[in-house]
Amino acid sequence: MSDLTILALSGSLRKDSLNTRLLSSVARIAPPELTFDVFGELAEIPLFNEDAEHPSPPAVADLRRRIRAADGVLIATPEYNAAMPGVLKNALDWLSRPAAEGPALTRKPVAIIGASQGPLGTIRAQLNLRQVLHKMNATVVGQPEFVLPHAHQALGEGELPAGSPSLPILTGVLQGLVELIEHDRAVASVLAAR
Ligand SMILES: Cc1cc2nc3c(=O)[nH]c(=O)nc-3n(C[C@H](O)[C@H](O)[C@H](O)COP(=O)(O)O)c2cc1C
Repeated sequence: MSDLTILALSGSLRKDSLNTRLLSSVARIAPPELTFDVFGELAEIPLFNEDAEHPSPPAVADLRRRIRAADGVLIATPEYNAAMPGVLKNALDWLSRPAAEGPALTRKPVAIIGASQGPLGTIRAQLNLRQVLHKMNATVVGQPEFVLPHAHQALGEGELPAGSPSLPILTGVLQGLVELIEHDRAVASVLAAR
């Protein structure tokens, strides 16, 4: 595997967010070839307004540039009322628009995970997120799917403990993301050689 950079984005603004802690668990088990650029400025993304699109607000431009610089994206979404949180949808609405920085998520390999306190572990939020990413022409890992129900119990005060049955599934998600990135690279090099 070559060295890859993954932009990691938690869809929660909460200081003690379960999803942000889940991302830390992923970074801990990831192979050394993966470097994570954790975007921690979601709170600085303003509410989307078509009247204020150009130039991009600084936090939006920064997120776009960091996604473009990354090889792939990993999103950990909470579930609010059976959907992704508004702050995450708001950021995606910004990213979906044309901008001087160029398209951010078009054909970008993306993996989705999520943690919730409920019994369904964000599966509905992930479906909602997947649908929006599909509309944006992102390339999203299909299998395996990772949900963490009752995450406040699974994560305790910190990260997933060694031996958690969730860890091999998280590893599989990362593997799926790396495979998508490598597949896209191979296709790009074939097209470039034409
Ligand atoms: C407005 C709101 C709606 C919520 N709706 C759901 C839900 O539909 N399903 C669920 O499992 N948990 C729901 N929760 C509980 C979240 O799973 C819990 O707050 C979780 O900790 C949020 O993720 P975070 O810790 O990363 O911020 C809701 C919480 C809030 C604040």
